[in-house]
Amino acid sequence: MKHVVVGVSGGIATYKALDVISRLKKQGINIHVIMTKNACEFVTPLSFQTISQNYVISDMWAEPKTWEVEHIELSKKADAFLIIPATANLIGKIAAGIADDMLTTTVMAAKCPVILVPSMNTNMYENPIFQENMQKLKAIGYHCMEPAEGRLACGDYGKGKLPDPEDIVGYALEVLNRGTKKDFDGKKVLVTAGPTIEAIDPVRFITNHSSGKMGYAIAEEAYNRGAEVVLVSGPVHLSCSDGIKRIDIQSTQDMLEAVLAHESWADVIIKAAAPADYRPAAVSDSKIKKGEESLEIKFIRNPDILMELGKNKGKKILVGFAAETQNVVEYAKEKIVKKNLDFIVANNVTETGAGFKSDTNIVKIIDSQGNITEYDMKTKKEVANIILDKVRLYTE
Ligand code: CTP
Repeated sequence: MKHVVVGVSGGIATYKALDVISRLKKQGINIHVIMTKNACEFVTPLSFQTISQNYVISDMWAEPKTWEVEHIELSKKADAFLIIPATANLIGKIAAGIADDMLTTTVMAAKCPVILVPSMNTNMYENPIFQENMQKLKAIGYHCMEPAEGRLACGDYGKGKLPDPEDIVGYALEVLNRGTKKDFDGKKVLVTAGPTIEAIDPVRFITNHSSGKMGYAIAEEAYNRGAEVVLVSGPVHLSCSDGIKRIDIQSTQDMLEAVLAHESWADVIIKAAAPADYRPAAVSDSKIKKGEESLEIKFIRNPDILMELGKNKGKKILVGFAAETQNVVEYAKEKIVKKNLDFIVANNVTETGAGFKSDTNIVKIIDSQGNITEYDMKTKKEVANIILDKVRLYTE
């Protein structure tokens, strides 16, 4: 059984920690709650005791006097430390090395991953002192969740809201499960994700429906399995773990340059992106004004990044994707040969449960020896692990 210590500090979002704890309990996780004095002003320890079904520690000096061992014992037992909400004051104390109550003392003694879920007023969140404290903690390996945006308790709009309990639980589980399978330790994995965009003029561009979800899932899982990961990403609305080196690009040419800069570094390259195959022959410096006539734009070919990589493959493992609307296997096999790939992940993007915006995918993996494995509908995270399992067969 996994043990999570939940540190609760005092803020308007304190009550939401109850929901997070209840959800974690349902995952079979044993929860130990430590509350700050201020947290007890917002919600009583009894509520946390009832939800967590464990004794709640709030006062370092209270009876029974078990604290001498307790804070060390708890920090030893914990698989993760989750602080929710993490106020500016608490983060400031942790960053400054202050340990003046049960919560800060136990955090300081903790060797397990510490997850901070900040919640505060936008101006406090944006305050450079707070940001510096967060950066300091991130740099030494603390996991800091991004707060959500919206209407805050004080009536202001902006960043600083506690994220949804469901998202907090997802984040915490990911950190908890990280490190269970470290079969990519020492491997360098380059992943591309998302669409690229090609400018027509300063206000217009063309792009495609790629959401980046598949590539991000691969990057995240490779990282979880111990790899050093570089993620070259087109413009998408996704975030990734702090430990992943993410390079944001716009056009196919930008993606090519970022990929080539890491070509010799990588042991494995997985090209899940959907780079635009064409770009406008000329990009207008000023906005194209509309006229009565129809508008014709000439497009010229973009480089095929994967084909460039295939020319120089060496011992690298090269994995491509094939997004098709028909003749999936036939086209995928052609791409393996043309681009010199080890294997390709093919899908019919018109199928329900597969393709761009979906959280699931239905794929076939076809390798250079002609083996074809077909999979039922799976989450993109599951598909990511299937792809990485296959990569492992080549690296052993
Ligand atoms: N790819 C690439 N550079 C491009 C286009 C595609 O590296 N300019 C990569 C994709 O990342 C993917 C694979 O090539 O891994 C196949 O992409 P896909 O769009 O399915 O096929 P194309 O090769 O572009 O061929 P077509 O558009 O004719 O299907």
